[in-house]
Amino acid sequence: GAIREYQFDVQMTNVTRLCSSKSIVTVNGQFPGPTVFAREGDFVVIRVVNHVPYNMSIHWHGIRQLRSGWADGPAYITQCPIQSGQSYVYKFTITGQRGTLWWHAHISWLRATVYGPIVILPKPGVPYPFPAPYDEVPVLFGEWWTADTEAVISQALQTGGGPNVSDAFTINGLPGPLYNCSAKDTFKLKVKPGKTYMLRIINAALNDELFFSIAGHPLTVVDVDAVYIKPITVETIIITPGQTTNVLLTTKPSYPGATYYMLAAPYSTARPGTFDNTTVAGILEYEDPTSSPPPHAAFDKNLPALKPTLPQINDTSFVANYTARLRSLATAEYPADVPREVHRRFFFTVGLGTHPCAVNGTCQGPTNSSRFAASVNNVSFVLPTTALLQSHFAGKSRGVYSSNFPAAPLVPFNYTGTPPNNTNVSNGTKLVVLPYGTSVELVMQGTSILGAESHPLHLHGFNFFVVGQGFGNFDPAKDPAKYNLVDPVERNTVGVPAAGWVAIRFRADNPGVWFMHCHLEVHVSWGLKMAWLVLDGERPNEKLLPPPSDLPTC
Ligand code: C2O
Repeated sequence: GAIREYQFDVQMTNVTRLCSSKSIVTVNGQFPGPTVFAREGDFVVIRVVNHVPYNMSIHWHGIRQLRSGWADGPAYITQCPIQSGQSYVYKFTITGQRGTLWWHAHISWLRATVYGPIVILPKPGVPYPFPAPYDEVPVLFGEWWTADTEAVISQALQTGGGPNVSDAFTINGLPGPLYNCSAKDTFKLKVKPGKTYMLRIINAALNDELFFSIAGHPLTVVDVDAVYIKPITVETIIITPGQTTNVLLTTKPSYPGATYYMLAAPYSTARPGTFDNTTVAGILEYEDPTSSPPPHAAFDKNLPALKPTLPQINDTSFVANYTARLRSLATAEYPADVPREVHRRFFFTVGLGTHPCAVNGTCQGPTNSSRFAASVNNVSFVLPTTALLQSHFAGKSRGVYSSNFPAAPLVPFNYTGTPPNNTNVSNGTKLVVLPYGTSVELVMQGTSILGAESHPLHLHGFNFFVVGQGFGNFDPAKDPAKYNLVDPVERNTVGVPAAGWVAIRFRADNPGVWFMHCHLEVHVSWGLKMAWLVLDGERPNEKLLPPPSDLPTC
């Protein structure tokens, strides 16, 4: 493969949205940030220089990082932050992946403005397993706060309440014409008639899963999380924060004399009714090759503008039906290498709760009242003040983390009852330790302690196969018989259904410390996160490489 070199200057940049300006953290002054282009097999070298008064780290979301865990990026997991005035060079090889991934800041809520696409093309001379598109366009969804996002989350954590919801969703950083004072900040996808385009869709929003649709134009999904799937054609996709989806869009055969809206709006069972002006719109605009005045004027000519119809905000059955249709390609060329044998089984509850201040009289929160918390198996994960991977590598885990993360809830309960009867949450920095090569099955069970809500769980360092999903409590006697071990979708982020469960399998063939967390940033702040420690194998090519000399220290 080739060597791809980038320089990321992290800097403050003034940006105006919704008629209000603020200084935000950007990479190279761009918002959204620059695209990293590479081919499968390439070696990527990205020098990150921190010019802002915040600690920084950048995560290459979905990149496997085989033996290169030092380049993964989550602050206090694989590295100490890059301090103001310091730099760090991330180096990794892209192995066995092609499609769309993305990069984002991985510390506090800085990813609100620090994110961009990673476009991975196939190896030279290797075609897509579908007709080559005429053009390819990254489409990033985000969330915009008029206030400073670091202030929003730190205030919420101090008071123990929920943070303010964002003021707008965005497409490629632009809120679009449905928001006040925003019509000029509208994403326009300019197309020619009779062509096929590939949209590389990324959900970089902080706290919301999103529906997305384009009026009059079905979308054919061909790839999710940089893995090809069996193509499916739909009117609307659902995409959680952290996920990526490549879709093909074929334009009308001739200039249609209309413009078409594209819309993205949240899917949420927790907060229906709390959103009103929450739909971001972009415009699909045909360039009429024969027109004069110039074709880009099309939208301003009062041509009919058509809008798609999105599902209701809490349409969980749409989400379940859509996700059940995603299947690996599972061909000789792109096999689905699903682990058949399982060495270790885990059952994790994921959900919200409260720290039990009122119950035991001592409060683990910063105030004396109970506060929101989120947990996995009732453990609300606390980041250490040094990096877990560094502590492990140096053999200095004492006082930093313990290796006793529970494999199942300590006390089983009716997870999806209303209300369920276990809200205990306690703080801890606990890991699961896995020998190299362990084949893992993990069932993640949503709880409805504070109402049923979907949680998009993201695993660093691996792709996993989604072998089963369902509603209600997982039934170990009946549900495994229904697993799909033939062509389950392979990905790095999966929505644990609201009041339901999902089963995944992966092979622990990548030594290092690997974060797993809900990709709703507010839930990360509340503790819905944990980490796996995968030990070195016996063979030289099964061992974590030594840390780079410029690895930041805490
Ligand atoms: Cu996209 Cu740990 O994150």
